[in-house]
Amino acid sequence: MALLEVRGLTKIFGGLTAVGDLSFDVNEGEIVGIIGPNGAGKSTVFNMVCGTLKPTAGTIKFRGKNITGLAPHKIAKKGIARVFQGNVLFPASTVLDNVVMGAHLHTQLDLFGFLFGGRRARRKEEAVRARAMEILELVGLADDADTLASDLPHGNQRHLCLAVALAVEPKLLLLDEPVTGMNAEEVSEMLDLIRMLREKTGLTLIVIEHNMKAVMGLCDRIVVISYGVKIAEGLPQEIANNPAVIEAYLGVEDDAA
Ligand SMILES: Nc1ncnc2c1ncn2[C@@H]1O[C@H](COP(=O)(O)OP(=O)(O)OP(=O)(O)O)[C@@H](O)[C@H]1O
Ligand SMILES: [Mg+2]
Repeated sequence: MALLEVRGLTKIFGGLTAVGDLSFDVNEGEIVGIIGPNGAGKSTVFNMVCGTLKPTAGTIKFRGKNITGLAPHKIAKKGIARVFQGNVLFPASTVLDNVVMGAHLHTQLDLFGFLFGGRRARRKEEAVRARAMEILELVGLADDADTLASDLPHGNQRHLCLAVALAVEPKLLLLDEPVTGMNAEEVSEMLDLIRMLREKTGLTLIVIEHNMKAVMGLCDRIVVISYGVKIAEGLPQEIANNPAVIEAYLGVEDDAA
């Protein structure tokens, strides 16, 4: 049984089919890439998997259980987390507090207790903070625990976004354009970090990315969508040589070259 099973997934906005009858599997421990031209429907797939959008049709199963249309915090609790493109959650808070608050917000764990105290809540809070420190060590930010998030260099802010997502202890992590806008050194650091996370924690990942070199080097398998429809699926090498994929990208600016 695959960890994630997507079947016939469809999202229609008004008259526009953003995702149409899409099916794919993600196996435990895999890194699967989703690629496709701008507007192909990639982020919409993520939005449906993590519950921020309800599918028009189709099913999403996680660990054999139907999670289609569940609220985002329920899906987060089941073990699916997402890293958004862009900035950290709370720029004016410390790196450590970002991870702690991320854990609370995403799962709606006892946020009241976290904010207003109480002895039991404080003990629980200490455990959350200790775990947050371990996560910062994992992503290489332990020395910056007390730094304000906004004072981190750009590349490290993206590492912090990863740490915040990891705070909910996900089984499956969705990364939307993790290296877009990074320089070559930052890209290679981020790819190394993602590989290391998979090795050390057994995490399964789905990665949306326009940087083809990064996708090809990182992913075990790639799903290609165009106008919401799957046009190819296979090993990176197969995808790179697939005529339908090359056609879909023809005339589309390749900002990854
Ligand atoms: N909330 C929404 N309401 C209406 N249309 C939407 C909404 N979200 C996305 N769309 C449309 O659905 C299509 C797919 O968008 P989506 O953001 O999933 O594409 P994408 O593959 O992630 O693109 P990009 O590579 O540019 O991030 C686009 O035509 C987009 O305009
Ligand atoms: Mg997108």
